[in-house]
Amino acid sequence: MKTSEINALKHLRKLLVENDYYLLMNILNSKLHMNPWTLCPINKIERLPLKQQKLLKLFHLGVEVEEIDDIMDKSTVEVFLDMGLLERRGNAYIANKYTIYPYNGLFIIVEKRNQGKMGKLDQVWFGTDSIYIAKLLPFVRNKRVLDLGAGSGILGLILASRGAHVTSVELNPKAYKVIKWNAQLNDLEDNVEVFLGDLFEPVKNRKYHFVVSNPPFLPLPDTGDDKFLCGAAGEDGLDVLRRILNEIDYFLEASGKALFIAGGFGDNVKPYVFEELEELVKKTGLNINLILITQTKAIQELKRLKSELPEVENNLEVISKKIEGSNIDYYSFIISLSKSDAYKGQVKLLKCHNTLLDSFREMKEKY
Ligand SMILES: C[S@@+](CC[C@H](N)C(=O)[O-])C[C@H]1O[C@@H](n2cnc3c(N)ncnc32)[C@H](O)[C@@H]1O
Repeated sequence: MKTSEINALKHLRKLLVENDYYLLMNILNSKLHMNPWTLCPINKIERLPLKQQKLLKLFHLGVEVEEIDDIMDKSTVEVFLDMGLLERRGNAYIANKYTIYPYNGLFIIVEKRNQGKMGKLDQVWFGTDSIYIAKLLPFVRNKRVLDLGAGSGILGLILASRGAHVTSVELNPKAYKVIKWNAQLNDLEDNVEVFLGDLFEPVKNRKYHFVVSNPPFLPLPDTGDDKFLCGAAGEDGLDVLRRILNEIDYFLEASGKALFIAGGFGDNVKPYVFEELEELVKKTGLNINLILITQTKAIQELKRLKSELPEVENNLEVISKKIEGSNIDYYSFIISLSKSDAYKGQVKLLKCHNTLLDSFREMKEKY
């Protein structure tokens, strides 16, 4: 990263900290940590002093703001224009591509979605799944941690802020750049090493105490040149997870652990991936908990995805056609995996589904 970018991000951090951006967003928006795309009401923002208003309008609401020389000097503005963090619109400025999401004491630059919908196929992923798995992360002081498919970098950054030595791997060059920005913005650049590459390939011969991944897991056949990198994972949504599972044992330290969030088809009792996990246990002796978090009719889930992801609607339609008339279910799940010589490995199916969904509903009713 250029020195000018490093300095501009340092300035931004100071600005966000001094003006309580983190506190204000959390206090103004109680739903934020359930759905990262909910917005603070503008009328509440407009009751704040001008500096705070400008910061929240720029980096949270993403609306035009005139005269920002009271919050940023000209040279910082020029660097942000260059980085794409700001755009000029006549006399005004707008953060049209990125927004800053406060989470776990950190500021995470994420690519903006248009009314909650994905825009482009190369968009840097950030979603409710990111928040879901972020809540489940352990304490890992002084541990070596690997974040595979790091996106905005959120998971690795949280672990780095808890004292881990983190390696983040990402295949999308745009996301790779954003992870570096985020490490710098949070003063964690010395604790997070970022690689542009394919899964374990950049970390050959290394071993980790903890591996985390929120891999692409949408049931989408390869779309060729225009691959939907953050989501597409083959017809059954397991292509990337499968590759990770095949190699995970080698990359874990003797008592290492791993945590994944993913989804896939199944019958009405369990996801099909259960049998693959049993095979893995036979080969490696790993201990695995498959924790179900949602279960829906597959055809309904595909319908929901089509409305959320218009860019890949046609590809999702191909899968819908294939399973039409069947009674297949769709599950989302957590895989918690550990390595130990002390016990014989097994796979346990833990049916926790709908617990979070219910609490989402409760929250919705409450507020
Ligand atoms: C669902 S997103 C998760 C991003 C982030 N970890 C989070 O939880 O918000 C999956 C990420 O994996 C990346 N990815 C896809 N295939 C990959 C591969 N073969 N190697 C490394 N990263 C990959 C995508 O570009 C995307 O950023």
